[in-house]
Amino acid sequence: MNEKEMIPGATTASSSAAACPGRREALKLCAGACIGFGLDAAGLNRALADEPTEQRPTKGDRLVVVGADGAPKPLAATDVKLGEKPLFAFPYDADQKLVRDGSRLNKVLLIRLDPGSLDEATRARSADGVLAFSAVCTHQGCDVSEWVPESKTLLCFCHFSRFDPCRSGQVMAGPAPRSLPHLPVAVERGELAVTAPFSASPGAKQSS
Ligand code: FES
Repeated sequence: MNEKEMIPGATTASSSAAACPGRREALKLCAGACIGFGLDAAGLNRALADEPTEQRPTKGDRLVVVGADGAPKPLAATDVKLGEKPLFAFPYDADQKLVRDGSRLNKVLLIRLDPGSLDEATRARSADGVLAFSAVCTHQGCDVSEWVPESKTLLCFCHFSRFDPCRSGQVMAGPAPRSLPHLPVAVERGELAVTAPFSASPGAKQSS
């Protein structure tokens, strides 16, 4: 996580580590010892993934803009405008005031499209036309950052994979091997809220 992507006024990956240096550092420094005591690498990775800022978005999380100034402000559906470029966001646990920015795989792309252009499965995961997908390309993990209105696709500039947000993020062109994972959202008290986990593991690998 670079400094630009940090969100002031909330617990973030680095501030969480500062508040609780013991657990995370101990997990890293004692990796060899852990293996000696029967905790294998997969177990160690699972333990590290338990860090709250690294946990994948969960039901009830709000979404906050990556790199916004000031205290985290949950996005409303109306903040995502029809015809504008995608917004990047991180999940936000409003009760704990904790931004889940400890893993780049939590980065979410938000775009608003005409609800009438969405297929049924996609519309069911959207909120007033607002769609949320993993922002991490399933090819080699670059950011999927552009909306191409002419082809109605999301584009990854690294190797030009294109994804169709109107059909659950399926691959339309390029080397990406699978769809962009979809993050179901709804509007709760005017705010965008996560209603279920990602439809598949985000990132270049199938498992995370
Ligand atoms: S990383 Fe996106 S197309 Fe290769």
